[in-house]
Amino acid sequence: RHHILSLADFTTSEYNAVLQTAASFQEVLSRRTKKVPTLQGQVVANLFFEPSTRTRSSFEIAAKRLSADTLNFAAATSSMTKGETILDTAKTYLAMGTDIMVIRHKEAGVPHVIAQEMDRLGVKVSVLNAGDGQHEHPSQGLLDLFTICTLIDPAQPRIELLEGKKIAIVGDILHSRVARSNIWSLIASGAEVYLAGPPTLLPKFFAEYLGRTENSQRLFTHWQLEPALENADFVMTLRLQKERMTAHLLPSLREYHQLFGITRNKLKLCKPNVKVLHPGPVNRGVEISSDLMDDPEFSLIQSQVTSGVAVRMALLYFIGSGRA
Ligand code: CP
Repeated sequence: RHHILSLADFTTSEYNAVLQTAASFQEVLSRRTKKVPTLQGQVVANLFFEPSTRTRSSFEIAAKRLSADTLNFAAATSSMTKGETILDTAKTYLAMGTDIMVIRHKEAGVPHVIAQEMDRLGVKVSVLNAGDGQHEHPSQGLLDLFTICTLIDPAQPRIELLEGKKIAIVGDILHSRVARSNIWSLIASGAEVYLAGPPTLLPKFFAEYLGRTENSQRLFTHWQLEPALENADFVMTLRLQKERMTAHLLPSLREYHQLFGITRNKLKLCKPNVKVLHPGPVNRGVEISSDLMDDPEFSLIQSQVTSGVAVRMALLYFIGSGRA
């Protein structure tokens, strides 16, 4: 695989290769030196046209742990403020010897357009989608998968471990690229995936669209929280993406928390050892109660961030070593 743009066409063996490679990189990260020479001499450019804390920083540290040289670009402090286009920006980074472009943009499809342009130019640059609009966030989907699978079997994380598990994805499904990537990986795993959100954020047309996807018999949509939480093994709660909402979509935050916010009390509906995930950043006290977010007995939020480094090392390793 030359580019990583989506999980829609990921195969079981690709999922397992990422999970197992990430596990071996996690072992590297636990050593004193923490570094391997795998991508020595390669340049990884983080081209972020939209803000980020964890994705950008963890791709940077992942690249550094693989001994690559890293470049960090933020649109607000770049020559785009003088009118340079996205494609010209990408070509500028190409001309500086970039091997891997990690791209985030608020519009769906931008990483795909840049990947197409690199292919058209006949250059061996790989593009990694770090979140494109409402479309997909593949590295987040993979780190969520890794976080859950390593909890079940730390030595041999594999996608088959999720077969028959019940996983609830709760909240702003409509605007969530994280939900989109997670739906692909979780459906592929054989888990039962329950989506729950208010009708404005899980509209009927969208539920119907999802109902036409492959293996959709394992995908359920609800406008109430309870059916999704009942006997759930894992609950993934999502940020209300206010920046992508027009005013009429934004719910009252108090009412949203009452109906869809995850609290200790609501978790009583789930399996006793249920775990809660959130991709971050979190609107504390809205999607999840503040005390639950910080409770290591239930919350995997910090583990997700930690997993992100090893998983992104695995992704850079796959596309970086394939370039050799
Ligand atoms: N989960 C996630 O993508 O977070 P950032 O926006 O901080 O990268």
